[in-house]
Amino acid sequence: MIEQEIFSTFILEDNLNLNIEEMNKFAYKLKNEDKGTKMASSSQGGFHSDELNLEEPVLQPLIKAITEISLIYFKKLNIKEAHGLSINNMWFIINKENSYNKPHTHPFSFLSGAFYSKAAAKSGDIVFMNPNPKLEAYWHDGAYAGWNKYQSDINTRQSLANKIILFPSWLEHYVTPNQNEEDRIVWSFNLQLT
Ligand SMILES: [Fe+2]
Repeated sequence: MIEQEIFSTFILEDNLNLNIEEMNKFAYKLKNEDKGTKMASSSQGGFHSDELNLEEPVLQPLIKAITEISLIYFKKLNIKEAHGLSINNMWFIINKENSYNKPHTHPFSFLSGAFYSKAAAKSGDIVFMNPNPKLEAYWHDGAYAGWNKYQSDINTRQSLANKIILFPSWLEHYVTPNQNEEDRIVWSFNLQLT
């Protein structure tokens, strides 16, 4: 008997060791200068920055880490050597208590990611939704003794300070409400196939 996994979704997580105090200081500085975006945002109640200048010195350690980790993804997807991945854009969101993010994808990008410079237990987790739209209509809740990757409709990843997550841009996700008095700060980014 041969068991086959015929389709699969792959995400990457890593714990970095970046200077998150410096990043948080930078984020609050822009917030206090009211450098927020007027663009549509998934954030409900949070502060969404404008697109950041990728030349900004404070962002360089994160950009270096993203470049390194995206290579692993690149290999996993068996992308032709002639291609590369480059960072398209980056922004941050400060979710204060009770703020959350509605379900969304990151259109026109290849990979997307999140890095948390300020997060703790219950400050809002990222929840990935099963990309199979037929699952809910055919395989009903209640039949399972426990959830696994074949039948669960969501997968929750805890947001913790200094953690990075990389995922396919088409994978729908949302963020649960921040149940802490402390803010949650995430740096989001998109990567383009070049
Ligand atoms: Fe997102």
